[in-house]
Order: sequence, then structure tokens, then C-alpha cells
Amino acid sequence: MAKKLLELPTVDERLQSIGIIMDGNGRWAKKRMLPRSAGHVAGAKIIQKILEDLRAMGVHHVTLYAFSTENWKRPKEEVDGLMELIYKYLDEVVIEKIKTDKDFSMCFLGDKSVLSEKLRSKCIEIENMAKNRPFVCNLALNYGGRDEIVHAVNAAIAEGCNPVTAEDISRHLYTANSPDPDLIIRTGGDLRVSNFLIWQGAYSELYVTDTLWPDFNREEIVKAVNEFYKRKRRFGALDPEDAGD
Ligand code: IPE
Ligand code: IPE
Ligand code: MG
Repeated sequence: MAKKLLELPTVDERLQSIGIIMDGNGRWAKKRMLPRSAGHVAGAKIIQKILEDLRAMGVHHVTLYAFSTENWKRPKEEVDGLMELIYKYLDEVVIEKIKTDKDFSMCFLGDKSVLSEKLRSKCIEIENMAKNRPFVCNLALNYGGRDEIVHAVNAAIAEGCNPVTAEDISRHLYTANSPDPDLIIRTGGDLRVSNFLIWQGAYSELYVTDTLWPDFNREEIVKAVNEFYKRKRRFGALDPEDAGD
């Protein structure tokens, strides 16, 4: 008998924006004695399912870390394969999705200028196809938090801001149109943020699972969300029940 799919909980306004560090594709492949590229293919395959589940739960912004500014240090063969895979995912899956689902849109975070002409124009095409839709997936591609902050500070200076304020920086980040992530999930078990949303994630709840990205699934999402709702977010203040003691 087929296993019954776990029912999805519904989230509220406390959990509207989620960031995901999709890590562990290489280890997933290694465990199966497959090339790293097979792990990336398996990882790309599950993205849409995860996005659908998050959206069905009532999440409106999902930011996926697809390729960091530091990932260029990998062997050329792996980088080329990843870029080709990302192009394929955008061209075959995302374009179709935006055409058929009027609630779905995608934006790209990161400096597009160093991407290939083919990939860059695909990203721009996708961004122009759909704007202001209820569900936004931000794909962080050639993205680095430090690079983003430097870019934002320079943009603020060019605009004439003097001194530059935190508000000015936020306004010029690649994520200017998305709320800060309430929750950042990292698969693959490493306890670090690897330059992901370092400004926006200042007060995000962090959830790390040992599960490798290609194995991430609905059960894992439910676990992460349940864990989020157990956390007390204080933002540096006191819990109301402790104030006035
Ligand atoms: C994440 O998986 C994908 C990218 C960084 C592009 P990895 O390729 O980092 O997989 P591991 O961490 O080596 O297992
Ligand atoms: C983070 O994973 C980047 C992405 C998931 C795209 P990495 O595998 O690059 O991170 P490190 O090198 O282990 O910190
Ligand atoms: Mg990794």
C-alpha cells in the first residue's frame, strides 16, 4: 500500500519568509558511488516539490541558495555542470511554472554580470515574466552576503547618502523586495551560514538537519516548521512574561 503523505501544517504571519541552504548534494552522490554531478541533478529535481509544499503551507517568500560567490573555487567541470543544470531548470521547469501558475514568480539574488549571456538573459526573462505575485522564490545565484553588502553600500553612496544608514543598506540589498527570513534551514549538517543572507538573517531562527539536500522532503519541512514554532524570538528584548520581574 502506498504510504500516506503527511499532512501539511498551516503557517501564520510569524513564518512568511524562509531561506534554505541546499547543501549536501556531493555527499549524497558519494554515498552512492556516483559523480558529484548526479547529486546536483537529484538536488535540482526536488526543488519544485519543496516550493509547492512551502507555498501550500502559506509561506510567501522562499530564498534558495543555489550558487555562492565562493563556489567558483570548485573545479571548472563542476561549475560548468552546475550552470548548465541551473539553466535547464529555469528553461524547462520555471518558465512553464510561471506561465501556468499565476501565483508564482521568481527573482534572482546576486551579481548577474559574471553569468554567461545565455543564463543572464534567462534570469532577466523570468524576472520580467511575472512581478508582484503572491509567492516569490528568490534564487541566490552567484550570491554572497558580503558582496551584497558592499554592493548596497556603494549604491547608497552613489545615491548621495552621507552618512549611510542601516535603512539605506537594506533598501539596496538584492532582497529589497522580500522580508527578512524568519527561518533559515540548512541541510547537510554543517553549522554555519556560508555567506548566506548575513545581513537579513541577523535574527533569523536557524535550523540545521543532517539530511542531505536530495533527501529533503515533506517530513523534513514539517519538522523544521514545528521546531520554529517552539522557538522564542526575542530580538534582543525580553519575553513579555519576564519583563518587570
Ligand atoms: C550544495 O551541495 C550545492 C552547491 C553548493 C552548489 P554541495 O555540492 O556543496 O554538496 P557537499 O556539501 O559537497 O555534499
Ligand atoms: C553553501 O554550501 C552554498 C550553497 C548551498 C549554494 P557550500 O557547500 O558551498 O558551503 P561550505 O563550503 O561547506 O561552507
Ligand atoms: Mg557543500
